[in-house]
Amino acid sequence: DWTPDSFVEETVKNLKEQLGNDKVVLGLSGGVDSTVAAVLLHKAIGSNLHCIFVNNGLLRKNEFTSVLKQYEGMGLNVKGVDASARFLEALAGESDPEGKRKIIGRVFIEVFDDEANQIEDAKWLAQGTIYPDVIESVSVNGGPSATIKSHHNVGGLPDFMKLKIVEPLKMLFKDEVRRVGASMGLESDLLGRHPFPGPGLAIRILGDITPEKVSILQEVDAIFINGLKDNGLYDKVWQAGAILLPVQSVGVMGDERTYEKCVALRAVESTDGMTADWVNLPYEFLQKTSNEIINKVKGVNRVVYDISSKPPATIEWE
Ligand code: XMP
Repeated sequence: DWTPDSFVEETVKNLKEQLGNDKVVLGLSGGVDSTVAAVLLHKAIGSNLHCIFVNNGLLRKNEFTSVLKQYEGMGLNVKGVDASARFLEALAGESDPEGKRKIIGRVFIEVFDDEANQIEDAKWLAQGTIYPDVIESVSVNGGPSATIKSHHNVGGLPDFMKLKIVEPLKMLFKDEVRRVGASMGLESDLLGRHPFPGPGLAIRILGDITPEKVSILQEVDAIFINGLKDNGLYDKVWQAGAILLPVQSVGVMGDERTYEKCVALRAVESTDGMTADWVNLPYEFLQKTSNEIINKVKGVNRVVYDISSKPPATIEWE
């Protein structure tokens, strides 16, 4: 019978045998899969597991710092690499959704390769690939591993891709990964996190990306997500986020006419992201959230709620 405890016990034993005294490199994304994979490997080989957590500048507000702290608190041997400026410079002027994804994938590989090369004698690349990734070839939501997979045919092969691959979660479904994480004592806020796309806020800023737009969207998103949590709604939603629209609209503040940005809020129910329904969030919650966003976030004077389901709309706007 499959149980999380027996899976952990057996996998740790196998990893010890397979990896011996070898060094292993792993890219952490902040998501459930890479985190659970890291904790399993850490149990097996301790500080021979070298984790790399890259800030692409497109994460949620404060996420890089707080998640890095969480990783360190778990005892992981992790290096946080703040490459925000490099990503944002590379993205400047790009408005095309697929163009943004390509740039982010390329820069991620460059940054990750630089870091992996600094770990001498690394023999293995560990990935948080889970069973649905294996059958779909490109993960719906993977962080680094999905980015790597969907971009590995661009240019020459980076050094880290010549490493042997170890994928301890390859046979598990998402709910099993969560149960394995829970049985190893991972915090429930980490295990219950909404999916977040690898390209991050870049595909929630319609049009070109500037540091100012990123910071506006981070503020809006934080108000929305914290509001969901404070009102007991976060766990009832499969994924939620805010989108910065490339339009300005007229508003009024005091006696002044304003002409500022508009944001859309999106919250969906889903099981696998392939289909999704918009969530009927309480009007009072939407009202409070909208007021808070407009009062607190400079540059935004209008909030709309996305009531489209997938299909035919997608979850992300890009
Ligand atoms: P869509 O927008 O296609 O999204 O309905 C379905 C799920 O996939 C996520 N998504 C991505 N994840 N890289 C990722 O790692 C991407 O480029 C990407 N695009 C969409 C989206 O957040 C949702 O969970």
